[in-house]
Amino acid sequence: MFKLALVQALVGSALAGTVIWDGRFNEFSSSTDLNNWSWSNQVGPYQYYIHGSAAVTQYVNLSPSYKNPADTASNQGVKISIDKTAYWNGQNMRRTELIPQTSAGINQGRLYYHFSVKRTNTNAPRADLEHQVNFFESHFTELKYGLLSGASGSSDPTLKWCVSGQTKWSVTFDADVWHNVAYDIDFSANQVSFWHSTGSDPLVLTAGPFSVSTSSNGADWHLGVLRLPMNSDLQSSDVEDWYFSGVYVESGSLNTQIGSGVTPTTTRTTTTPVRTTTTSSTTTQRTTTGTTLSTTIRTTTTTSPTTTARTTTPSTTRSTAVATTTTSASGSPPANKWGQCGGIGWTGATTCVDGSTCQALNPYYSQCL
Ligand SMILES: *[C@@H]1O[C@H](CO)[C@@H](O)[C@H](O)[C@H]1NC(C)=O
Repeated sequence: MFKLALVQALVGSALAGTVIWDGRFNEFSSSTDLNNWSWSNQVGPYQYYIHGSAAVTQYVNLSPSYKNPADTASNQGVKISIDKTAYWNGQNMRRTELIPQTSAGINQGRLYYHFSVKRTNTNAPRADLEHQVNFFESHFTELKYGLLSGASGSSDPTLKWCVSGQTKWSVTFDADVWHNVAYDIDFSANQVSFWHSTGSDPLVLTAGPFSVSTSSNGADWHLGVLRLPMNSDLQSSDVEDWYFSGVYVESGSLNTQIGSGVTPTTTRTTTTPVRTTTTSSTTTQRTTTGTTLSTTIRTTTTTSPTTTARTTTPSTTRSTAVATTTTSASGSPPANKWGQCGGIGWTGATTCVDGSTCQALNPYYSQCL
């Protein structure tokens, strides 16, 4: 027992990197605190300007019941809503989005953008329309939901991870399931990967790395949702609610745990894939000229369907089974099929059970296949 607890403590602390921007709403008493921010008074962790014309509580609300309950590092989560008034700046896309307000270098080096997302059956997102979720303006890494613009069919119930509009991973977006995500972004090497888990499970490298231009001015990651229009969409009276929690940007080592102080189950106690990175922490101050209103409007409007090239077939969609590692902490017995068996920073099993062999998927992750 003692040994187990000690190893848990060591793993927990060894895995955590440095939080360079914290969007977890812990210091918010309500979503109306977002109104503290303005272009002339840029305070708090979020810029709040991409929303419809109604009061903030029509689009953004906070509550402990809106967070992933496994996330003990967050006091509350955020419910982000889009309704028939959620049109910003004369556009025909429904949008409610928050932008990190920070001088930290959240567009430099090797970083992890963390968040959890779920939906419920109340005000469920429409599966017949494309949604862009938690995206950068150049769309080099983002989630999407619903029927992609230009795709055939009438609806698509999957949540997808996309790189420059190409689907790299997808899963059915069931109600009441928390999806934990880390966008793994190497702004220096121009590479992105995707870490994912559900519920309280630790994050697992699920797709990537992919090479892409990781272009960001440090104020263009959008927490929230943009829904593309259909012909009658402007008049439709439906409302959608999206839930997010555990939002933060981390440098250094990836913390694969959901929240702090999570009690892992006994079969997977200390076997979280460990990874180290040689990226040094970034301390360079971003210039403030990138945050001007005119710049932001110009770049955000590139998401319009009329100006953005979209693929017409979802041909690259594939489902990926999430690997679970179940090797024990004592010694290194062979990893089970689908388990991790190597990679930079990996200290666990390096052999596989009979019937599978260890194959390197990338420098950071070898898997028993
Ligand atoms: C918003 O402003 C109020 C009043 O000054 C302050 O009490 C509150 O802490 C601020 N909220 C945040 C999130 O900084």
